Parts: sequence; C-alpha cells; structure tokens
Amino acid sequence: MSELNIQDIRREYTRHSLDVKDVDPDPFKQFQIWFQEAIESKVPEPNAMNLATVGADGKPNSRVVLLKDFGADYFSFYTNHESNKGKEIEANPNISVNFFWIELERQVRIDGIAEKLSREEAEKYFQVRPYMSKIGAHASNQSEVVESRDYLDKKFKSLLEKFPEGEDVPMPDYWGGYKVTPNFFEFWQGRRSRLHDRITYTLHDSNWDIKRLSP
Ligand SMILES: Cc1cc2nc3c(=O)[nH]c(=O)nc-3n(C[C@H](O)[C@H](O)[C@H](O)COP(=O)(O)O)c2cc1C
Repeated sequence: MSELNIQDIRREYTRHSLDVKDVDPDPFKQFQIWFQEAIESKVPEPNAMNLATVGADGKPNSRVVLLKDFGADYFSFYTNHESNKGKEIEANPNISVNFFWIELERQVRIDGIAEKLSREEAEKYFQVRPYMSKIGAHASNQSEVVESRDYLDKKFKSLLEKFPEGEDVPMPDYWGGYKVTPNFFEFWQGRRSRLHDRITYTLHDSNWDIKRLSP
C-alpha cells in the first residue's frame, strides 16, 4: 500500500552485548548503569518511556510519559489522575513501561504495580516545575475533548492572570504522581543477525531470578 519501501528499512545492531554474567544481580542497579550510559550517549529524552495500561474493558492503551525519579525499589512519573491513564490505573494497577534507546541499540521493559504518590510527595515535585508547566497543569483537563485550540490558549492566558509569575501556583487537586513497584525487568541489547541479547529479572519471594530469553 505504501510507496515507501518500509521493508527495506533495516539496520544491523552491532554496538554492545549483554550476558547473565555481566549484569548486576539487582535490576535497579542494572537500570542505573544503562540509564547513565543513555545520558552519556546523548540519547534525546532518555527518561521518556512508553507506559502501557489496561482499563476495566480489558483493552490496552499506551502513551509516552517522563520518568521523574527512581530509587532502590521504585520508578515514578507525574500526570493527571483524572486522565485516561489515571482512570485505567485506578481500575487495574498493573502497568508496563518501555524505554527505547536507539543510540545504544537497547530497550528496557519493566512491569509492575502503580500506586498514587501522596499529595505531599507530588507537591514537592509540582513546586519545582517551571512556572509555565504549573499553569499548563491547570489549563488541561487531560484526555477530555476540548472544543478548539483557541479555547485552550484563552484558558491558559486567563490562568496567567489568575496566578501571576512569582506568586504561589497551587497544585491542582487532580494532578499527581505514581510510584511503580516492579516485578519484572527485561534488558534487551540489539545484536547482529537478529540474535539479540535478552536478560530478564523476575521477582520470586523477594529474590530476582535472572534468565536469558531467546530473541
Ligand atoms: C516525550 C513525551 C513526554 C510526555 N510526558 C508526559 C508526562 O510526563 N506526563 C503526562 O501526563 N503526559 C506526558 N506526555 C503526554 C502523554 O503521552 C499523553 O498524551 C497524555 O498523558 C494523555 O494520555 P492519556 O489520555 O492516555 O491519559 C508526554 C508525551 C511525550 C511525547
């Protein structure tokens, strides 16, 4: 159907390799190593991750969000709790995220359980966001139908007047963050001839079981 030769778009992955003996026994530490390398390799938006959720209707949905923090046992991101993704997480807290770092020929898949961060935790992050982003959070009823771009621009402008720069911008009630507690990781390294390296970590009784999967 397409006049573009999509079938001819192909690339050999040759830059790195990954083996069970090379990885850290702790997947969070392994993530830290790869994330640092993504930053050093100047991957644009290395913290952009595809977030998949499944709603009450059983249908999957995915969209990109930005990772804002991770620690010894969690990952976190921020959004509107009343958005489609917020409603889906409310109905089903099982989520899956995916990072794709083409410069390193790597992807990382993480499955886990999402739960709302407390209002205090979210507030801490909201208050360090740039002024315009704070106003943007007030202007958007995320995932709702909006009648026009003009409506959105006018709403934004009126909020700039309501909350002048330099003064306190309160966090909207619907805004906040999610903490993801992972139970599965996959570190994928592209290799020659599609014989990619896939190293997985699965949580069993508080221990991470490490395996190699066939590409
Ligand atoms: C690079 C990039 C970063 C994004 N970061 C976020 C984010 O951190 N939080 C967010 O709510 N939406 C973010 N978005 C917008 C989402 O992809 C999505 O459009 C929005 O959250 C609405 O999704 P939903 O209707 O499924 O809830 C980002 C989009 C892109 C392309």
